[in-house]
Amino acid sequence: MKIESFYTLHSTAASLVVDCRSNVPAILYWGSRLLEHTTPDMLATLATRQEAPASAASEAAIALTPELGAGFQADPGLRVHRDGRAWGVFATIEAVEVDGGSLTIRSRCESSQLTLVHRLELDAESGVLVLSTTITNNGSDVLTIDRCDAPAIPLPAELSHITSFSGRWANEFQTQTIEPFYGSYVRENLAGRTSHDTFPGLVVHTDGFKEHSGEGYALTLGWSGNHRVSVTRMICGRAVAQLGEAFYPGELRLESGEQYTTPKLFAATSNGGMTPLSQSLHRYVRSHLTDARMHGKLKPVHFNTWEAMYFDLDMDRLRALADAAADVGAERFVLDDGWFPRRNNDDAGLGDWTVDPNKFPDGLQPLIDHVHRCGMEFGLWIEPEMVNPDSDLYRSHPGWALQVDGAPLRMARNQLVLDLSRPEVSDYLFCCIDALLTEYPITYLKWDMNRDLHQPGNHLGHAVTHRQVRAVYALMQRVRQAHTQVEIESCASGGARADYGVLANTDRIWTSDSNDALDRLRIQRGFSMFFPPELMGSHVGPRECHITGRTLSMPLRAGVALMGDMGIEADVTDMPHAERTELAAAIALHKQHRALLFSGDVVRLDPTRYEMAHGVVSQDQDQALFSYAIIATPPHNLPSRLRFAGLEPTNQYRIEVVWPESPWRYSPSILEVIGSGAYTGQALMQAGLQMPLLKPESLLLLHLTRA
Ligand code: GLA
Repeated sequence: MKIESFYTLHSTAASLVVDCRSNVPAILYWGSRLLEHTTPDMLATLATRQEAPASAASEAAIALTPELGAGFQADPGLRVHRDGRAWGVFATIEAVEVDGGSLTIRSRCESSQLTLVHRLELDAESGVLVLSTTITNNGSDVLTIDRCDAPAIPLPAELSHITSFSGRWANEFQTQTIEPFYGSYVRENLAGRTSHDTFPGLVVHTDGFKEHSGEGYALTLGWSGNHRVSVTRMICGRAVAQLGEAFYPGELRLESGEQYTTPKLFAATSNGGMTPLSQSLHRYVRSHLTDARMHGKLKPVHFNTWEAMYFDLDMDRLRALADAAADVGAERFVLDDGWFPRRNNDDAGLGDWTVDPNKFPDGLQPLIDHVHRCGMEFGLWIEPEMVNPDSDLYRSHPGWALQVDGAPLRMARNQLVLDLSRPEVSDYLFCCIDALLTEYPITYLKWDMNRDLHQPGNHLGHAVTHRQVRAVYALMQRVRQAHTQVEIESCASGGARADYGVLANTDRIWTSDSNDALDRLRIQRGFSMFFPPELMGSHVGPRECHITGRTLSMPLRAGVALMGDMGIEADVTDMPHAERTELAAAIALHKQHRALLFSGDVVRLDPTRYEMAHGVVSQDQDQALFSYAIIATPPHNLPSRLRFAGLEPTNQYRIEVVWPESPWRYSPSILEVIGSGAYTGQALMQAGLQMPLLKPESLLLLHLTRA
């Protein structure tokens, strides 16, 4: 087959050029869309490099899979061997297939006896580039794979800064920005789940990158297990980003003829700042990862029992809570942890997925009937991958738990992890879930996962995190296929399993166990960089937050929660009347605007030390909902002007303060004068709206409509 020198893919806004001249595929250009007159030859000529002192006469390419056999000296994308040999991979292209927006390049390495297939797909509408690598063992003996990354992304020198995520339980999605340096930035996650602290993604960008200015690439690996994210800046002046799974020793061995495909790498590019990167990714998530049955769905407002009852479930209180929840506008009642035998604290019960006859002598049906009479759907919490040693399941199958031979079991939340890579374990779990979903009209599962995989060994002594993640996805798919009415929420002690891999199998993400509205502003901001609002579980918590102990007003708590997939996680029966009324009003407001929130473009404004603002603008730019919060005491008397973004400059907009119902007033302010006037998008974005005096820890929601 004749291999062209270059292959080009275009989306509406982006172009990708792959250089195949030296028989190894490498990204030559990826960025905003190229004009027709800009040819790949021009780009290649302009990129000509020379021999540098004390260096090889020519440099090994930053190929889609950089190769040790080619003399690539930074991190290769692939580390394989056959009992110590065949490490020097040097593949040459055999075939290239172009199919609409996708490119499949097959290369073969004769000496290592393997085939590499790189698949690159540029989504025409969102501009998101999706990449994966498949490796096949063509030899007759075992090929051991220590690393096999998704295709490498060469970085233009200007993208010198890295913004990545850190975090912890109840404080996920905290951003951190790293200044340029030589060497490698590596985040390796061995938590066995996506993790609270090491989100499998990052943004590489120009200095001074902001929400609406600067150039950047956003990259994220769709994987819910161990991963490695790295950026390497070489002394030769080139830089590369590589993302892939992280393997335990011997974890991935391919028998003759077997193959392995990396998780998908999702990538977006923009020269207009962070917000457009999020918008591309959100568009892709909505059209490709969100299940078709959720398209356009106005997701119901939740009531979740956890912070109102914890393990202390009893029918009378549950009924009273359901009444109160429905009364303020909840549409789905989710029974959280505590409903199965011996589950009175987190010491026991995980694994025995039947209904506790003590708490529910007649099963769940009476509660579900009551919930239905209140006009709500019924959802259930479950944590299938786990087992408590104090459970019938563990007593009969101690060998089903992951463990390392000879090492004492490391407990976390008094539980162990089941080895789902054993078919009998996955089958057992499917049968338990299937029985519950068959017996009861359950439309929603909150699928939790409350510990890391510290000792991911199976009964044969192999590390199995990779297989475990695949088995979890398969189990989720099996449940979804058997019960198409059921939606699944991905939860892992809050937001420790939030990634594009699990998203392809679930319908909502529990963002964080913290319902502290102030912390939530920052957590939800980080989350929104990769995930759209309809996937972001955001609940109104108790007045005094159970996690931080901070006391926050209902207008703030509700105002923060209503910008996502809203819910309540507090004892509504115990709320003062005034608070309940405010909560009901906030839920009504959410319902009024959720069609906009669940389909519009997220627009973040750059935060200051004391302010945080963001909004959602409808696709036709005819309306928008913006949130403006004062998070700390401002240094000056009055807040600054809010310069909106994402509006159509020539449209005239009316502005209405829709939340809180009665904003605090110190003296006559802008709120008295904006009235029924209309203002161009340009005026609102370029000059901005002077904000009124607000107390710290409060917010305003502004609804803009085209006049
Ligand atoms: C995890 C979840 C919580 C709750 C508890 C129940 O911590 O993140 O929302 O469901 O488990 O045990």
